[in-house]
Amino acid sequence: MAVTDEAVRARLPRFRWQLLLKPSVFIAALLPFLLLVQSLLAGQLGPNPIDTLTDQTGTLAIRMLLISLMLTPLRWILKDTWPIQLRRMMGLFAFFYASLHVTTYFALDQQFDLAAVWADLSERPYIVAGTIAFLIMVPLAITSNKRMVRRLGKRWMSLHRGVYIAGLAVVVHYVWLAKGDLIEPIVYLALLIVLFSYRLVKTLR
Ligand code: HEM
Repeated sequence: MAVTDEAVRARLPRFRWQLLLKPSVFIAALLPFLLLVQSLLAGQLGPNPIDTLTDQTGTLAIRMLLISLMLTPLRWILKDTWPIQLRRMMGLFAFFYASLHVTTYFALDQQFDLAAVWADLSERPYIVAGTIAFLIMVPLAITSNKRMVRRLGKRWMSLHRGVYIAGLAVVVHYVWLAKGDLIEPIVYLALLIVLFSYRLVKTLR
């Protein structure tokens, strides 16, 4: 008996592109880190490698943070759940790059000198804004697993809304430190305002 194309197709397991989504995004988000390590080892970070590391990790952290904030609106717009599968991972990548950024500053730039860090906080106020952002991100990263979501219940939602305050503090940090060239930080600020307003309108409805 001849087997029709349709019968053959029905027997084949359906290609689930969503199975590849998380690993692909994971690799894409990790790639800048690997390239940064490669440039560091090859001595290709320019005349001031510590400054380059600080700037690159800071930029990666803010971008990952904004991407993580885009995923919920994207789910509403696309009426599909796949963006939500990436939300936790992107939030953790934001924290990963922010931790590298802070470690570069603390260990390489300031060489664990607490007095120098203290002096820097009063001399360069944008460091205060960055510190506030990072301190907000720490509990968000710690409570991002399923067990904590269950344990904290409604409080988890309230705590994680703090991500918008962290985002605002980061943008303030960036606007404040950017001498002259304000285009990039202003684009991030505009994006943050759009995302926050969209979320607010949706929640109020
Ligand atoms: C303890 C917390 C933090 C400290 C001490 C800190 C420190 C710094 C320093 C020293 C710079 C370089 C300034 C310059 O080029 O003159 C910088 C830049 C930057 N930081 Fe932070 N930062 C902190 C937290 C954060 C966090 C949490 C984020 C993002 C999530 C962030 C994002 C950025 C960005 C986007 C830049 C600009 C990079 C560029 O110029 O391309 N920072 N930060």
